Amino acid sequence: MRVTLIAGNWKMHKTHLEAMRLVQEIGHELADVNPQKVEVAVCPPFTSLRTIQTLIDADRYDLVLGAQNMYFADEGAYTGEISAGMLKALNVTYVILGHSERREILGETDEEVNAKVKMGFDAGLTPIICCGETESEHAAQETHAKVERQIQAALAGVSPDRARAAVIAYEPIWAIGTGQTATPADAQATIGYVRSVLADMMGPDAAGAMRLLYGGSVKAGNAKALLSQPDIDGALVGGASIAAPEFSAIVKAVT
Ligand code: PGA
Repeated sequence: MRVTLIAGNWKMHKTHLEAMRLVQEIGHELADVNPQKVEVAVCPPFTSLRTIQTLIDADRYDLVLGAQNMYFADEGAYTGEISAGMLKALNVTYVILGHSERREILGETDEEVNAKVKMGFDAGLTPIICCGETESEHAAQETHAKVERQIQAALAGVSPDRARAAVIAYEPIWAIGTGQTATPADAQATIGYVRSVLADMMGPDAAGAMRLLYGGSVKAGNAKALLSQPDIDGALVGGASIAAPEFSAIVKAVT
């Protein structure tokens, strides 16, 4: 069965010194959580990956490491970018790809997301592929069409054998950082639709194995209702992931 995944997307928060303190607090708060039941990932900025990797190893926290982005080339003259291989060498497991902030603010395209997904798989990383609609797309009832297009593009040319390991995060853009969440029923309806799109693309077996997350103002108070939906296998948490008590309470709410 699908193991619940709670992934904290720290975005552009925390120096490596602050990150050290935060991960120690999270590790301490979650010491009793059974990793067979819920997998917990932290996705700090690049500058904190090495620090946190060292702490996870030394203190044996049941946390896995994720990155927030990568570039789609092995190496070369790409000033400011980092490769999948660099992440892999730091024991990174997950890489968030196609987050709406990268798409909307930094102009990332579906084609770039697809290239990153393939490079990530080649390097042995597990992509967390983000999709989701804007407020106006939501109002125009274009949610299903938008997420279908984003997922088909992101996974184009990826085999079902590989795709089954991927994680998809549905994050309505109007719910990110706003305090508004999709209702559990609406989130389930869209994420259930995502699974049907994946089944058409990859077959029901691979689609049934894939973990589909909800993201957008997830908090300790709403996590249980969202995660008790049949197709919602976890959460991608932004704002609430950089406060250890709130993030830990989300994890505990679903165990
Ligand atoms: P939020 O962010 O939890 O602050 O809404 C979620 C995300 O962007 O992944």
